[in-house]
Amino acid sequence: MTDFIQQTEFSEIIKTRRSVRVFDQKEKFNHQTVQECLELATLAPNSSNLQLWEFYRVPETSSLKTPLAELCMKQSAARTARELVVIVARRDNWKKRAKSNYENVKKAYKGKSGKKEKQVLSYYGKLIPRLYSKFPLWSLGKRLIAWSVGLKRPMVREVSETDVRISVHKSVALAAMTFMYALKSRGYDTCPLEGFDSKRVKKLLELPDSAEISMIIACGKGLPEGIYGERFRVPSEEVIFEK
Ligand SMILES: Cc1cc2nc3c(=O)[nH]c(=O)nc-3n(C[C@H](O)[C@H](O)[C@H](O)COP(=O)(O)O)c2cc1C
Repeated sequence: MTDFIQQTEFSEIIKTRRSVRVFDQKEKFNHQTVQECLELATLAPNSSNLQLWEFYRVPETSSLKTPLAELCMKQSAARTARELVVIVARRDNWKKRAKSNYENVKKAYKGKSGKKEKQVLSYYGKLIPRLYSKFPLWSLGKRLIAWSVGLKRPMVREVSETDVRISVHKSVALAAMTFMYALKSRGYDTCPLEGFDSKRVKKLLELPDSAEISMIIACGKGLPEGIYGERFRVPSEEVIFEK
């Protein structure tokens, strides 16, 4: 029974979440809720558990809030947001995150080292460096290796530099979604934005060139006029298939 209620509640969160473009300016907004929901977001599944994400909170009290909203092409969601959260993909942090995982595995298997431990250590110590290292022609090299191995047995084909970047953004997007549902479950609304000047936003937040902004999430208590029309989705038959 409890499971059923929880399931129904979660379905309600999914159904009632909308992208809201106008947020209430009067009611008190609990910024601590954003922090808590971001902490929940870090529990999202992510490729190889490398956690190549960062979240920059820009609350209404920050001197960066107005300039950041301007860089979101002055969209009303950004201008009226009580807080903006910049979701950043940090592919460049792979080495230190692989190391954290490596050390965590060493700690977890302490005293009972065996085949499994060796496999996981080799994953973080050898395979991840092979996939994430960057040097001239290596992207092509990886594709050629995947192609030749793939002639004989099933092989992961998405190994190029572009594939690696996509993989990082996939994980980051899952964290972003987790964050939006968490916030919705606490009575707040969001609008994910990709309409922004990434170059200037990176400069404003003093992020390195290697950081990539996945999206910026406007947060607040949505007003009814912030929902632009009935929700529209194409029929399920167009997108869900059983084979
Ligand atoms: C990656 C991404 C980028 C988006 N960028 C913008 C944006 O810049 N401005 C905006 O108003 N809405 C933006 N949206 C919101 C979409 O327009 C919205 O999710 C879609 O129309 C479906 O509506 P719903 O979220 O209310 O179900 C974005 C959504 C996603 C997932």
